[in-house]
Amino acid sequence: MSDKKKILIIQPIHKAGIDLLENHPKFEFEVIENIDSENIVSKISECDAISIRTAKLSGELINKSNKLKIISRHGVGYDNIDIESSKKKNITLTITATANAVAVSEHVMFMLLNISKRKDMYDSSVKSGRFSDRNKLPKTIELWNKNILIAGFGRIGQCLIKRCKGFEMNVFVYDPFVSKEIIEKFGGQKVENLTDATKKMDAISLHVPLNKDTEGLINYELLKTMKKNCIIINAARGGIINEIDLNKALNENLIFGAGLDVFKVEPPEENNPLLKNDKVFLSPHTAAFTEECMIRMGKETIQNIIDFFDKRLDKSKIVKL
Ligand SMILES: NC(=O)c1ccc[n+]([C@@H]2O[C@H](COP(=O)([O-])OP(=O)(O)OC[C@H]3O[C@@H](n4cnc5c(N)ncnc54)[C@H](O)[C@@H]3O)[C@@H](O)[C@H]2O)c1
Repeated sequence: MSDKKKILIIQPIHKAGIDLLENHPKFEFEVIENIDSENIVSKISECDAISIRTAKLSGELINKSNKLKIISRHGVGYDNIDIESSKKKNITLTITATANAVAVSEHVMFMLLNISKRKDMYDSSVKSGRFSDRNKLPKTIELWNKNILIAGFGRIGQCLIKRCKGFEMNVFVYDPFVSKEIIEKFGGQKVENLTDATKKMDAISLHVPLNKDTEGLINYELLKTMKKNCIIINAARGGIINEIDLNKALNENLIFGAGLDVFKVEPPEENNPLLKNDKVFLSPHTAAFTEECMIRMGKETIQNIIDFFDKRLDKSKIVKL
């Protein structure tokens, strides 16, 4: 019998990550694409480590493991992993802490620019032979000197502020867990009260985790108080914005537009009204899907497992359960 550690890779990762394991003396691995619970449960009892992308690892599944020591998230959010059972079984949970921030921050700028520059409208005017509409189209909006609120000032928030400063935006930060000194060091202004702050914003970008405090953080009550030209971007987690409220606010012209990379239910249900709303710009949870980021995540999710068993895992990769 092999004494190699078994790694179950749930959902394919970049080859660069797999390369770290090919012919490895200490590890063997299996990649599974079928993420049905029945398929995962048939493998979980035998594995020492799991690398997982977005599939759900319920408490029921985790409880079926016999020797699982580490769950290595390919990404940084871990709301798909049951924390209670991981904790009870003393399983280490890691994230690809250094991989995602640049890709997600660039995606936020991409959404912000697409919406403010009315990309679809201008692009289609030329492609459909209506070049001369240039004088009739509604004007685009500059980012320069506009107020943006970054809610959540962790890895991504701190990376995004640099891009916003590059566009000479006035950056405000809402994160009760980060000090004024740190925020000011990055050139931002700390705000204490979300409702007071959002009233003054031309743009808001969400970078908080999804939990009981942040679910529905952006709702109709708050949307009602925002500036009519405000653009909201959510590349964090679906559910932080109440989608029905957002749709209503957009239809009532309470805000200008929204960019969403994430949805409460993924893929979004067919009857999700936001799918038909011209004021939203959407992407299918792909903010981190740059070629470069996929390589970084693929390598880091595997390296975290290797480092864990070699007892040299960096603390910054471990989620405090
Ligand atoms: N769209 C994607 O593909 C994608 C990729 C990576 C990460 N994400 C998501 O982006 C978010 C941020 O990731 P990160 O790596 O920057 O995380 P992080 O843990 O480094 O930062 C999160 C920050 O949010 C703050 N925070 C927590 N609760 C808060 C609250 N109630 N109000 C205000 N601030 C609060 C924390 O203090 C922390 O500074 C997560 O939700 C993650 O799941 C999405």
